[in-house]
Amino acid sequence: MKTIKNTDLNIKNLGEEVTLYGWVLKKRDLGGLVFIDLRDRSGIIQLTIRPENKCYELATSLRNEYVIKVTGKVVERESKNSKMETGEIEIDVSELELLNTSEELPFALDENTTALEDTRLKYRYLDLRRKDLKDKMIARSKITMAVREYMNNNEFLEIETPILCKSTPEGARDYLVPSRVNQGKFYALPQSPQIFKQLLMVGGMERYFQIAKCFRDEDLRADRQPEFTQIDIEMSFVSEDDVMTMAEGLVHHVWKSVKGIDIELPLMRMKYDDAIENYGSDKPDLRFDMKINDVSDVFANTEFGVFKTVLEENGIINAIVAKNVADKYSRKEMDKLTDYVKTYKASGLAYLKFNEEISGSIAKVVSESEIDALKSKLGIEDNDLVLIVSGKKNIVKASLGALRCKLARDLGLIDPNVYKMLWVTDFPSFEWSEEEERFMACHHPFTAPKDEDVDKLLNDKANCYSKAYDIVINGYEAGGGSIRIHNQEVQRKMFEALELTDEDIKTKFGFFVDALKYGTPPHGGLAFGLDRMVMLLTNTENIRDVIAFPKTASASCLMSECPSNVDERQLEDLALKVSKK
Ligand code: AMO
Repeated sequence: MKTIKNTDLNIKNLGEEVTLYGWVLKKRDLGGLVFIDLRDRSGIIQLTIRPENKCYELATSLRNEYVIKVTGKVVERESKNSKMETGEIEIDVSELELLNTSEELPFALDENTTALEDTRLKYRYLDLRRKDLKDKMIARSKITMAVREYMNNNEFLEIETPILCKSTPEGARDYLVPSRVNQGKFYALPQSPQIFKQLLMVGGMERYFQIAKCFRDEDLRADRQPEFTQIDIEMSFVSEDDVMTMAEGLVHHVWKSVKGIDIELPLMRMKYDDAIENYGSDKPDLRFDMKINDVSDVFANTEFGVFKTVLEENGIINAIVAKNVADKYSRKEMDKLTDYVKTYKASGLAYLKFNEEISGSIAKVVSESEIDALKSKLGIEDNDLVLIVSGKKNIVKASLGALRCKLARDLGLIDPNVYKMLWVTDFPSFEWSEEEERFMACHHPFTAPKDEDVDKLLNDKANCYSKAYDIVINGYEAGGGSIRIHNQEVQRKMFEALELTDEDIKTKFGFFVDALKYGTPPHGGLAFGLDRMVMLLTNTENIRDVIAFPKTASASCLMSECPSNVDERQLEDLALKVSKK
């Protein structure tokens, strides 16, 4: 068995005889002396093989990624390499054994690889040998361990819940698994363990957690995978405050153990409505300022047609200020920003540049008094750029919210080493669906409304708020949860509010509603996205970087080539027929 890691060795081990195992990262043949960089999981160490050595021939024949075992003496290096952890020493090899050869790799395992991501995904097991990915896997493991440590210290039980289950109401499309024994019937893979963790509370477990695999068939983005992992938590006899305090304690513990960073607690809290009002997002990135300002009042009596119509139609006019950059944005740049906000359905982007002369798309159509009012309201200084979107509230907020993040990225306003965390609280219970023309649940249907809003469940849905909270880190939704409904009467009202018929309730989650009848304790919880937590702690914006075997944007695995066709026999067993599209 291998007992020594490359990086276990340093100048203190001089003279010791050691046996090492690993891969040939690089071989240099200096006409006489062979140098090998030996790589193992821990890092790299230099080997030297002298011509008089019996294994010299073998050493010269080694190629990259061959697997070897060497025995030799730790000696001091003549020319030290301060960039290498083991740079002060090398191994003077006496014995060398070739454990395996390797074909030439399809791409070079360079630190700053230029290989296409598709190639790297196809040969993921090779890509994992690169330091960058390997370090992320190590970080992920440390983070998971730190989570378990904290949960264990706080008397949470780690309990597994089924993967083959009944569809859970999280809102995305389910992955379905056909049943052979019960032909024509399907299991759903869990979108989260939501119902089970609540049933564990009914079952008296009081404090549960699980590092849980979740599956959602939804459009993928840079921070979304069809198969991802949650740190899933549920607690009995708690309030919103209790869950948030426990969860931020976990974040503190993880950041401290993995990064040595002392996050200041308690975390800031912001109501959902304020987050939307000021940052145009329920996951505001607070690493930079650039708040959204409502300037509708400045234009209350405007003659400018576009703004006038918007206000007449009960729309709003909002602005953000990019400080001291007016001269950086050409007409062409502004056109690009306009196209950008249009992807968020904004009808356009108006702007003003405050240089000696005021210029910009609306400079000629707004009055001097409006400009003055704008200046004093927004605290405008020389060379500021004011960007304005007008229209329906949700579109204005979403487009300016996204624009503020884009500008911050483009202008380099974000310090990548800073973590800005907050709770977004008081989410609305319902959101209006234009498509369905009705109110839908913002979270799952077991989220408790605020005590004072219970009556609004049926009478005033637009103003009914819930005991739901999200933890937001650097503009990412890192986790979210709520206090659940434990009272049957409130649950009945919620179902009624969501226009679910008795039949719907019975078929979808009848067993769960039944369980609530048997002394359900008040309970609540939340789930962190583990992958997102790892992304944040390893400074990557690509979720695939933190998952050993991720899927592509089209939800496939390039390495194993899944999803794939199956045998006719397998389909027959399941009584399934594939209709060719
Ligand atoms: P929610 O749906 O908000 O809540 O999920 C919790 C957290 O999981 C992460 N997440 C994802 N990460 C990667 N890829 C995805 N496709 C993906 N979807 C979600 C996010 C998110 O904040 N059962 C509730 C939790 C509860 O109420 O206790 C739930 O699943 O970081």
